[in-house]
Amino acid sequence: MFISTLGLAGFNTAEYAKLRLELEVAHAKLVEGDRKSQDNLGWMQPLDPDDEQVGKIIAAAEQIRRDADVLLVIGAGGSYLGARAGIEMLAGRSGTEILFLGHHLCTANLKEVFAKLKGRRVAVNVVSKSGTTLEPAIAFRLARRWMIDQYGVEEATRRIYVTTDPEKGALLAMAKKNGYKSFSIPERVGGRYSVLTVAGLLPMAVHGADIREMLRGAQEAARLYTNPRLEANTCYQYAVYRNFWYRNGKSIELLAGYDTRLRTLSDWWQQLFAESEGKDGKGIFPAVVQLTTDLHSVGQYIQQGPRHLLQTVLWVKQSDLNVTLPEMEDDLDGLGYLTGQDLHEINKRAFLGALTAHTNGGVPNVVLHLPDLTEQTIGHMFYFFMKACAVSSLLLGVNPFDQPGVEAYKRQMFHLLEERRTS
Ligand code: PA5
Repeated sequence: MFISTLGLAGFNTAEYAKLRLELEVAHAKLVEGDRKSQDNLGWMQPLDPDDEQVGKIIAAAEQIRRDADVLLVIGAGGSYLGARAGIEMLAGRSGTEILFLGHHLCTANLKEVFAKLKGRRVAVNVVSKSGTTLEPAIAFRLARRWMIDQYGVEEATRRIYVTTDPEKGALLAMAKKNGYKSFSIPERVGGRYSVLTVAGLLPMAVHGADIREMLRGAQEAARLYTNPRLEANTCYQYAVYRNFWYRNGKSIELLAGYDTRLRTLSDWWQQLFAESEGKDGKGIFPAVVQLTTDLHSVGQYIQQGPRHLLQTVLWVKQSDLNVTLPEMEDDLDGLGYLTGQDLHEINKRAFLGALTAHTNGGVPNVVLHLPDLTEQTIGHMFYFFMKACAVSSLLLGVNPFDQPGVEAYKRQMFHLLEERRTS
């Protein structure tokens, strides 16, 4: 992964120098682990691809692939977005179909998902670190009922896989009592940093991903991004870039992908940065655009709206498909000059054209070049963003690993639900 220098051109030396000093402190906090963060740094060393645990995940995935046409993955926030992102980026693998539930309370979608299960062989993987999040807990209750009605208790039990905390929580207790196979999200890894643990790896392996390759990519990234020198560390450059522009009035970051397979990766990125940084009255708002699609909607705003935007572009270098524009005798659309050209090359021109237009329009841009969308690159990218997010949050002066604001809504909601029980 390589960051171009486009967005870094406006750095002034005083600001840059200050950020460099702050980066040294942030780096030391992550390497040594200060009091606040040491309980949350388990993700910094990705699993060894040859670790016994990885073998167990692969064995469970193979079992699920033999048993089921559909795996229902139940989870919210960091407990499903990483798996979903990986699966969408690796579209077209010949694994079991993966459906997601438990990230909302919408009855229409619940009905739609359960309708898709009809007549198919189903397994369930419920993922919740705390085991108490309402959305997945409700979806799991519904799914258990459905599985028991469908298969009877014994066979339903064999088809249910629980991913949760190793020591505590309602879900762990339920798994023990009912004899569900259970996997542990390591204690020192929080939800949004858990994509490279069993939380993300099991569903991705069921989809047909080579998770060992993914972990190799993550390990390569972990090695690369331990370098404290900013010039040699693109991950730190990205964190510095964001904070530099935030301090210069850019309060919204757009993540722009030119490949539709990056859509859920963008959602994962958004959740990672929003929950890690948006606190204490601070934080860049992470927004997502899909290009060229959104050039015909928010593109207008990007070009000429308020100048509070910065943009990070994801460009995938290699295209999996060769699509060339065919010849048309009439040429009534006037596109004859593109005959024989590769669509990926045309997309590239659109990307480069928009990049120049947006930069000229006062939106700083940085480009993250991805060589391809293979497991290795994906593992590398997941790690890149997690580390960049932790460093960026520390530069911002907030705790990257808590989410007190999320707890506030839960308190209000449970208060209202309790009121109903007692009325
Ligand atoms: O990043 C986080 O910690 C959160 O987004 C959680 O992943 C999310 O709230 C789900 O929590 P849990 O896995 O405990 O159900």
